Amino acid sequence: PRTAAVIPAAGRGVRLGPGAPKALRMLSGIPMLVHAARALAASRAVHLVVVVAPPDGAAEVKSLLDAHALPERADVLVVPGGETRQESVKLGLDVVPPDIGIVLVHDAARPLVPVETVDAVIDAVRDGAPAVVPALPLADTVKEIGPCAPGEPEPVVATPDRARLRAVQTPQGFARAVLVRAHETVAVSGEGATDDAGMVERLGAPVVLVPGHEEAFKVTRPLDLVLAEAVLARRRA
Ligand code: C5P
Repeated sequence: PRTAAVIPAAGRGVRLGPGAPKALRMLSGIPMLVHAARALAASRAVHLVVVVAPPDGAAEVKSLLDAHALPERADVLVVPGGETRQESVKLGLDVVPPDIGIVLVHDAARPLVPVETVDAVIDAVRDGAPAVVPALPLADTVKEIGPCAPGEPEPVVATPDRARLRAVQTPQGFARAVLVRAHETVAVSGEGATDDAGMVERLGAPVVLVPGHEEAFKVTRPLDLVLAEAVLARRRA
């Protein structure tokens, strides 16, 4: 089946500090979302890249993508995004043509994902998994907290066994019909989700993990920009 990658890039990036929308920030002189689009188009299996731009920034994003060429075999579409990541993904999904059987969803905020990770996700969907997520073990122990008043120290209620936890990345890959159904169902229920696989889990469909990659980290805070520049410098060396 043909494969499309939807790249939600409509977030404000508030945690990164003041400035342009996160996906438009530069890494080594190239906007983050261009890195992300190139990383997905680097896979020979990806035929179409749909970039979901900030609502008022679709024209700017289109011209940025035109200025920084992607591999020619991949087509590119740009659509304006929404208020939430979930809405933005849905708006991207809406323009994926009917001949596409596999859809990847990839955060623009993970600009350095290696092509091997992209291919591993696509291969697992081709092998029959309806939903595939790249994931890594956690370095930190994680605590669950209980309710607490503002300003009070947060009470710990549980420490899940770290060996059974994984931190998930993108691209997450889906049989197209499963992802479309998940988005339709969640839109009706009104519940939010922080990743697409979480919506598929609510349908009761199986979700499986493949190994993620440390270079697929999410650029969220200022220190992540330093790390991203260092990874790019190492790749150039
Ligand atoms: O905020 P967070 O880091 O979880 O955002 C993940 C991705 O979702 C980013 O690439 C961001 O640009 C995108 N996003 C979006 N539309 C929104 C909010 C976030 O496309 N309204």
